[in-house]
Amino acid sequence: MKDLADDRDRGRTDDRDRTDDRDRAKDPVDTWRRLAGDSVLLDGFHALKHAVRFRAEVLVAVTGDRRAALALADELAPDVRDTLDGLLVEVPEAAYRSLVPRPHPTAVAALAVRPSREASLRALTATHRTAPVVVLDQPRNLGNAGAVIRLAAGFGATGVVTTGTLDPWHPTVVRGGAGLHFATAVERLTVAELPSGPVFALDPEGEDIRGTKLPDDAVLAFGSERSGLSPELRARADHLVSLPMRPQVSSYNLATSVAMTLFHWSAAGGAPIG
Ligand SMILES: C[S@@+](CC[C@H](N)C(=O)[O-])C[C@H]1O[C@@H](n2cnc3c(N)ncnc32)[C@H](O)[C@@H]1O
Repeated sequence: MKDLADDRDRGRTDDRDRTDDRDRAKDPVDTWRRLAGDSVLLDGFHALKHAVRFRAEVLVAVTGDRRAALALADELAPDVRDTLDGLLVEVPEAAYRSLVPRPHPTAVAALAVRPSREASLRALTATHRTAPVVVLDQPRNLGNAGAVIRLAAGFGATGVVTTGTLDPWHPTVVRGGAGLHFATAVERLTVAELPSGPVFALDPEGEDIRGTKLPDDAVLAFGSERSGLSPELRARADHLVSLPMRPQVSSYNLATSVAMTLFHWSAAGGAPIG
């Protein structure tokens, strides 16, 4: 059982338009249509599994084949099997297809409450951070953003901040992140609003990262796929560091750059993984 304090920490409020188990079971399609506009779409079994593991508040969960979904849970997620059993409501395949933009091979979809901005900011600005914050400066590619959130979740990063126009909670980003937005703090901020801490900006022209120990409270900033780091981010950077790359290769992909940098941080012993 979750306690109330935990719910409050995650920015949940009791006056939200909630649903209860009876509503869900009675007319899950109607409940879905009512809640879809303001909720996070969890697309597929794995996104739902991760969201449940990291204590997302799931409002409604549907499947075109409940038996198959629970067989997947038995095989891949016995730790949350009972919770999924309680959440998943079977709907006709056609109804499932009408609810999602792109049907998933697992025929599972759910809606969850998006954590409040206040809750995310609390996590991102906590003093004595034990793991870095990743900043994507004006990213363009939704798939890259999702992959980065999945990396941040895996490495136990404090959170992922995006600057610019991309919504890091866009359904395509959540799909790319496999529902792991709930395992870290994800928010869009301006450069001026970035959390405190030494900013290490990643750029092919920087100092070789292999000579640098990244501190646990680092803010690790990465430029956009098209134009690299913005002038505002460069002005805020304390260090400019590069990933080893042989001459004549211009740059790495954004998400792979984040992967190498987080691995470099973890290899020095900082990662609170376990
Ligand atoms: C696809 S690259 C951007 C390339 C862009 N044309 C530029 O001018 O930098 C996206 C981001 O990945 C990071 N990145 C890629 N390769 C890197 C390298 N060798 N060293 C450090 N950062 C790198 C940087 O943060 C970069 O802004």
